[in-house]
Amino acid sequence: MAKLPTRSPTHEDVPLARLSSMGLELEELAGDDGAITLPALVELAEDRGRPASHYLAAVALATELAIAPPDRDAPLEIVVCAGTCQRYGALDLLDHLVTKWQNAPAFRLRTVTCLDRCDSAPTCELRGAHGQLVVAPATAATVDEAINSLS
Ligand code: FES
Repeated sequence: MAKLPTRSPTHEDVPLARLSSMGLELEELAGDDGAITLPALVELAEDRGRPASHYLAAVALATELAIAPPDRDAPLEIVVCAGTCQRYGALDLLDHLVTKWQNAPAFRLRTVTCLDRCDSAPTCELRGAHGQLVVAPATAATVDEAINSLS
């Protein structure tokens, strides 16, 4: 992890112990390949009364888990740091992307624990035929704008 932003954190991160136990819950839902669909993850989160973003942060920590791609073709992959970037709004961004995906599953979503741009947290990368577009600091508005610029 590189330097953190000079501005103060705006959010609290989910405690590691809680993320670990959520990872175990997800393992029970995952297929043999460790893939879990986003609708299944969202349903679990709703059942537990937690935001989907918390479970997505748990996926980032669990090396054997991954979000399954949507059924339809989705050439765009959105990679969001759910590591220390949580302290700067990454979970809000993830919840926004989950809602966006539910309305139109036109991208694959992946969470990681660091994208090596910690001083610009929260960070996000849009990967696809265009190459890699970095959005940092990433907000719902700036990521929406970036997605629109690619379509
Ligand atoms: S913690 Fe390094 S980019 Fe998020």
